[in-house]
Amino acid sequence: MHSLAGRHILLGISGGIAAYKAAILTRLLKKAGCDVRVAMTEGAQAFITPLTLQALSGNPVHTSLLDPEAEAGMGHIELARWAEVILIAPATADLMARLAHGHADDLLTTLCLANSACWVMAPAMNQAMWAHPATQRNARQLESDGWTLLGPDSGEQACGDVGAGRMLEPEAIFSALSTLMDELPALAPAGNVLPAAGLTVTITAGPTREALDPVRYLSNHSSGKMGYALATEAIALGAKVRLISGPVALPTPEGVERIDVESALEMQTAAEGALDDSDIFIGCAAVADFRPAEIATHKLKKQAGEAQMHVVLTRNPDIIAGIASHSHERRMAGQPSPLVVGFAAETRDVICYARDKLTRKRLDMIVANDVSTPGLGFGSDSNAATLLWHEHDTIAQQAIDACPKLALAREILLRALTLHHRKTDIGPRKRR
Ligand code: CTP
Repeated sequence: MHSLAGRHILLGISGGIAAYKAAILTRLLKKAGCDVRVAMTEGAQAFITPLTLQALSGNPVHTSLLDPEAEAGMGHIELARWAEVILIAPATADLMARLAHGHADDLLTTLCLANSACWVMAPAMNQAMWAHPATQRNARQLESDGWTLLGPDSGEQACGDVGAGRMLEPEAIFSALSTLMDELPALAPAGNVLPAAGLTVTITAGPTREALDPVRYLSNHSSGKMGYALATEAIALGAKVRLISGPVALPTPEGVERIDVESALEMQTAAEGALDDSDIFIGCAAVADFRPAEIATHKLKKQAGEAQMHVVLTRNPDIIAGIASHSHERRMAGQPSPLVVGFAAETRDVICYARDKLTRKRLDMIVANDVSTPGLGFGSDSNAATLLWHEHDTIAQQAIDACPKLALAREILLRALTLHHRKTDIGPRKRR
């Protein structure tokens, strides 16, 4: 996995001709697994549209400080706290001047003042503007304030001049940023605080077994690998993890509290018992939808000549829908409530069924995966998925290509953490 994977990068774009190269930079960051959010100045939007950056980053683009709708989604203070790195590319002479003097007269400059993580910029301007004593003074001021300046490069400029002032190529910015992040791992939000520190994550995993008699049961092919990968990654992100596990042949990840259950009813009892003390609840288990209406006390015996056997099944409770409904009630009552994440294992019309489950079960987010793809999903170490969550009045989605289940688990958790911080209106540095 790339060292930038999972990092929260806020890409600031100001109004210069090099703004179009920010699209390539966004793609590079996304390909490396970064969570990218883009903030554009008004000038930048004259060179490249927010829609382009929205499509490439997979997130809404932030353009205005005074937009009530955007503020209701992820407000500017929350966005500033969310960012591990603010990367401005291109940074124009005007933006540099405003930042050097501590202005907060638009969204991007305000975000820079409100963020205390890592600041990197790639200046881009005409060579005479770069050489001007005022710009040079501003550049020195910015460096002494803690900004890392990448470039500018020398060569032919869009205006026909030749000299120093061109923005570094996106590939060079990307590689310099990677080196910076490698060398300075403590630049994560709040210094060394991990993004899930102080949070409790409860995860259900594996299949359930629904007994027919003392020796037989109904079950499914779930290996539990996805749920266990989530538990492993949640620990790595600093969470306290409770794993409610159906019967699987997997070792307990280090540091995880594991509660073993067999049937759906047992899983439900354990899940409801965990509700009070969970910040994020992830239902990854493949719960049997039905159980035998009666469990025979003794082993069922064949009768002579009996060619068929009929078993009456009773519907099991929908565990995650119950948890989501309790969580919703708490939220309405102004009480702390966990963010609830479900899975949708489908073999056709994956997104359509997942959207339906997201809404019907009142989940905050759902992980949709196609369990019919050969080599992925059940029993495999890899998986591909699409994450779907509520964003304003629509449902946003993020596709994750086939990757190891651990990498997918990290993406799921990072998205869930972003939604959790938004829901509780606290940044990663301010937890109970
Ligand atoms: N789930 C649950 N309790 C159940 C059934 C499912 O908590 N009795 C949860 C799963 O853990 C998963 C989500 O619901 O997070 C969706 O599970 P899935 O098997 O995809 O769907 P079902 O709800 O069972 O619907 P269907 O079988 O009709 O697709």
